[in-house]
Amino acid sequence: MSVIENSKLTVVGAGSVGTSIAYASLIRGAARHVALYDIAHAKVEAEVLDLAHGTQFTGATEISGGSDLSVIEGSQVVVITAGAKQNPGQSRLDLAAVNAGIITDMMPKLMEVAPQAIYVIVTNPCDVLTAIAKEVSGLPAHQIFSSGTMLDTSRLRWLLAHRVGVSTDSVHASIVGEHGDTEFPLWSTATIGGVPVLDWRGPHVDPITREELDHIAADVRDAAYTVIQGKGATNYAVGLSTTRVVEAIFHDQRSVLPVSTVLDDFHGVSGVALSVPCIVDAAGATPIKETRFDDEEWRLFEASAEEMRRVAADLGH
Ligand code: LAC
Repeated sequence: MSVIENSKLTVVGAGSVGTSIAYASLIRGAARHVALYDIAHAKVEAEVLDLAHGTQFTGATEISGGSDLSVIEGSQVVVITAGAKQNPGQSRLDLAAVNAGIITDMMPKLMEVAPQAIYVIVTNPCDVLTAIAKEVSGLPAHQIFSSGTMLDTSRLRWLLAHRVGVSTDSVHASIVGEHGDTEFPLWSTATIGGVPVLDWRGPHVDPITREELDHIAADVRDAAYTVIQGKGATNYAVGLSTTRVVEAIFHDQRSVLPVSTVLDDFHGVSGVALSVPCIVDAAGATPIKETRFDDEEWRLFEASAEEMRRVAADLGH
């Protein structure tokens, strides 16, 4: 994919997630210029240097960064990863209070430098923080959204593709709702090569059972806990899945991606950020209100919305 001239992405937060997004964006040529911002001067300088040393192999992309907010100037897209990360056994919602404080403090400062940028929140709990960031910034919902269940959907598609022996590209199934413990798959419209998942009778594999789908959904929901238990964090897959969102913005692709926006009467759900299939383009993210849910999926969606309202209320929002 050709790099868009004068495109600049800034990643806020030079931790493992932020640097993985910067790294993936350089390799995929998501933007001509990738900048990294962090308050930890020595850390961000070293990460930028380490990334820069590899740019001979990433095509004509530029890397810069630092601990001064001017780093962000001219960015069309700003990805926010700054904040506390999950420790083994912690849920994403356990990070809500501390990361809400960071986002609330940070948004006005970012807006002073890059008021026109599209903001993508990755910091967890990303759905609750997106609603807070939208409130604090005053930006319209399409301009400040979260990567949401992009990563969970990638996990789901990998598991299903692996189970039936087809390319991940041929699996069309999405995780929606919270990027967290109340997320769930839209099984009612999930297909493999256009075939409903439960009807798949491909070569060399047994038919998929409803029980297997339930296990796959649980494996996706718990995937982060598993990885964090083993290596202390997740970073590569969230780096790649977030970069996919960034590409859809810069290339004005109008791609349908499961990202999280503050909903406005999405089948009666308003005022909370949850992932549903959205059109992602140069304007940001717009939910597809025609997305089909069966009765059980509506019940799960409402439960996810209720959990987001509870956490937001606990934070005083
Ligand atoms: C995960 C983190 C990014 O799901 O929330 O790996």
